[in-house]
Amino acid sequence: MNHNDTDRAPSTFHVKSFGCQMNVYDGERMAEMLGARGMTPAADGRDADLVVLNTCHIREKAVEKVYSDIGRMTREDGSRPMIAVAGCVAQAEGSEIQRRARNVDIVVGPQAYHRLPDLIDRAGRGEVAVDTDMPAASKFGALPARTKQSRPSAFLTIMEGCDKFCTYCVVPYTRGAEISRSWSAILDEAKALIDGGVKEITLLGQNVNAWLGIDGRGRAQGMDGLVRALADIAGLERIRYTTSHPNDMSDGLIDAHGEVEKLMPFLHLPVQSGNDRILKAMNRSHTVGDYLKIIDRVRAVRPDIALSGDFIVGFPGETDAEFEDTLRIVEQVRYAQCYSFKYSPRPGTPAATMDHQIPAAVMDERLARLQELLNNQQAAFNTATVGKTTDILLERRGRHAGQLIGKTPWLQSVHVTAPELALGDMVAVDIISAGPNSLAGQLSRRKAA
Ligand code: SAH
Ligand code: SF4
Ligand code: F3S
Repeated sequence: MNHNDTDRAPSTFHVKSFGCQMNVYDGERMAEMLGARGMTPAADGRDADLVVLNTCHIREKAVEKVYSDIGRMTREDGSRPMIAVAGCVAQAEGSEIQRRARNVDIVVGPQAYHRLPDLIDRAGRGEVAVDTDMPAASKFGALPARTKQSRPSAFLTIMEGCDKFCTYCVVPYTRGAEISRSWSAILDEAKALIDGGVKEITLLGQNVNAWLGIDGRGRAQGMDGLVRALADIAGLERIRYTTSHPNDMSDGLIDAHGEVEKLMPFLHLPVQSGNDRILKAMNRSHTVGDYLKIIDRVRAVRPDIALSGDFIVGFPGETDAEFEDTLRIVEQVRYAQCYSFKYSPRPGTPAATMDHQIPAAVMDERLARLQELLNNQQAAFNTATVGKTTDILLERRGRHAGQLIGKTPWLQSVHVTAPELALGDMVAVDIISAGPNSLAGQLSRRKAA
């Protein structure tokens, strides 16, 4: 029996999120739910009565990290908190987790976490507490309304799951099928966030731009309609969205980038590879040419847009020449920032059993070459903003006294000396210098261009 050492119902909790923005959002919703139940947050996992490890299954390393964290939960006196494993590892491995890590009390998947209070009660009674259902009724209706937020920028999940089945990826298995939340649920949550002090909302989905719904007047709407409706809400100043799939990049959404002032000039649009044979083997269902055409159209309506993407190097069978094609597309697009990964075989995905898996040393070399190019592009993009005056939303304190950190419309972090009171404000700054990962600015007398 997996019994924890606290025989009382837990009164403090700590949620640790390991994954993508949606995973972070889920962690926030779980924390709000436990708070609504009268529990209080603890800053450190080992001091808490309940620790929720909100896990990610996307790459092998992410999974290993969870098991090492579980091992480290035991306190000096030998006791330990009640441990819940949530998120995508919970979904993928289910009760296997308790076989591998005996001190796990609760396993709860990403579509079932609204049932966490009940699972805590069950675990408290020493019962098996595993829930990896994907119930037809979405969890959202069962979660408490959003509360006051500590930061001016918030995530809002509008789409769950993925139907694309890229051959390397676990998400369709851990998150289930694509489901859009309703128009009214999204607008209500946005209004609650804005009432709680939020000025920037990032709409989330694994393929966020595949969102579909019916508006209050019975008309069919896509992401662009939703963005326009959000932009009409007073008090909301910035709208972002992530992650997008090239196939769902509609003309309407591209047009919105040219027309909706609150929609920020930033687009995260992963292509994964610059080679058509590899894209086909990945089941991406778009070509390099399709992708470049979208980039051209977006740049035509919003020339200053900052582009971001994801790349995988060393997909099974990738030749040197095919990898060079990835360098070529990066050179053509010129990214403001990017994520790049070594291919990681995931259990149960088609690519994991494909022939010609690429040796680790080759992947290391390819990743280093790609990242050098991407880092240079990011540095160039940052340098190009020096001398500009721009608005930043002050989101958090910096490491030095008197320093605050805000984001530009293009998602760069700016360090600025500003009064503490200004936290949460939108202020104009002159960008005075650029580093590889952030900018330095000073409060401006001018208005942002
Ligand atoms: N839905 C998003 C991405 C979700 S996962 C999209 O399609 O754009 C985030 C990124 O992780 C992916 O874009 C991909 O680059 C990377 N990734 C996913 N599975 C991977 C794997 N098995 N190995 C290495 N990287 C992977
Ligand atoms: Fe994974 Fe592909 Fe779906 Fe993105 S689109 S979540 S990479 S299967
Ligand atoms: Fe990871 Fe699940 Fe997100 S696998 S990337 S936490 S959807």
